[in-house]
Amino acid sequence: MNNSTLFTHEIKMPTRIRPIVVIGAGGIVEEAHLPAYQKAAWPVSGIFDVHVERSQKLADQFNIYRVFSSLDELIQSSPQDCIYDIAVPASQLIDILPKLPIGSIVMMQKPMGETLQAAQEIFNICEQRQFTASVNFQMKLIPSITVAKNLIDQGYIGELHDMEIRMNIHHPWGLWDFLFDLPRMEMLYHSIHYMDMIRYFLGMPQYIYAKTFQHPKQMQLASTRSVVVFDYDKPIRAFVNTNHGHDFGLKHQDSFVKWEGTQGAIKVTLGKNINFPMGEADAFEYYFNDDNLHGWRQANISGSWYPDAFMATMADLMLAAERTDAPHVTSVRHALETMRLVEAAYESSNHGGIPIL
Ligand SMILES: NC(=O)c1ccc[n+]([C@@H]2O[C@H](COP(=O)([O-])OP(=O)(O)OC[C@H]3O[C@@H](n4cnc5c(N)ncnc54)[C@H](O)[C@@H]3O)[C@@H](O)[C@H]2O)c1
Repeated sequence: MNNSTLFTHEIKMPTRIRPIVVIGAGGIVEEAHLPAYQKAAWPVSGIFDVHVERSQKLADQFNIYRVFSSLDELIQSSPQDCIYDIAVPASQLIDILPKLPIGSIVMMQKPMGETLQAAQEIFNICEQRQFTASVNFQMKLIPSITVAKNLIDQGYIGELHDMEIRMNIHHPWGLWDFLFDLPRMEMLYHSIHYMDMIRYFLGMPQYIYAKTFQHPKQMQLASTRSVVVFDYDKPIRAFVNTNHGHDFGLKHQDSFVKWEGTQGAIKVTLGKNINFPMGEADAFEYYFNDDNLHGWRQANISGSWYPDAFMATMADLMLAAERTDAPHVTSVRHALETMRLVEAAYESSNHGGIPIL
């Protein structure tokens, strides 16, 4: 139990380093993508954004070799073995992807389009153009989540039968103006990460029950609070519970993932979501039944969501590009499964509950 290697994790790195070219120079590229590539010492050879002043700013900040003034120029000037790293609103993906060369290696930000139909279309483009492609669902590859997955896979908490993801936070939605006119918001752009994570741990459920709600102070957005329940054909309870309207200080803000098994439990606090985007400290707590004299204990996990999880998704893609037997847990095929969950969640939410007679 004192074995500290239980709580370490390593990102499997590719042997071949490829240049990265970035499409989109917004908040997430500045805060997470470029810091991740800097930390991994992966070269970024060019950047393009429809607002050239944004790409110029990031090029200066991160020493990016070239700023392009159009997508065509970026494609024509990029090395053949490069990785296209796309971080734009999901509605733009279907226009961008068909322009990339056959056989490209592509990372695209989540969600994979804004509907299941768009996700299927994106998947088909990737297949037809023989892309090695990923969707950047990086939450499941946060270092503390990876450590939890390894412990659970090794049986440390017995059989996993309960998984809860709770976010009671105050999210500054104003940072993303493109979210304001959308018919689908919270589950598509935020809880999608948690649905992807539950699927990663427990697989596809048989049924989804969901309800997504507006908040009286966030009525400009389609919804900002959701409850999503996964129903398996086993005694498993798994659910997502998000409230982004908790505007009452930090004291009762919550951001955690908790797993309960027949032999123990693990709780990971994801501090980044609290007081976003500054973030608070992460925490990793665990309780193993055969070590219960100690009760709940804490472990220090090195690395954090930003930027380490973004290194992990890119490494997963780079490995897939060099080895057909790589895990490729970020593949578009996996992402399409997550988009099926999201679609089912909206279907459930739209259909409503059982009326009280
Ligand atoms: N943790 C995460 O995984 C995470 C966090 C935040 C955002 N995201 C995703 O990343 C994407 C971008 O989010 P953001 O926070 O950077 O938003 P943002 O609004 O800060 O930036 C988006 C950028 O894309 C540019 N853009 C729009 N259309 C373009 C096009 N066709 N070609 C080139 N550039 C274009 C815009 O000019 C803008 O600079 C979204 O899809 C969002 O869901 C993911």
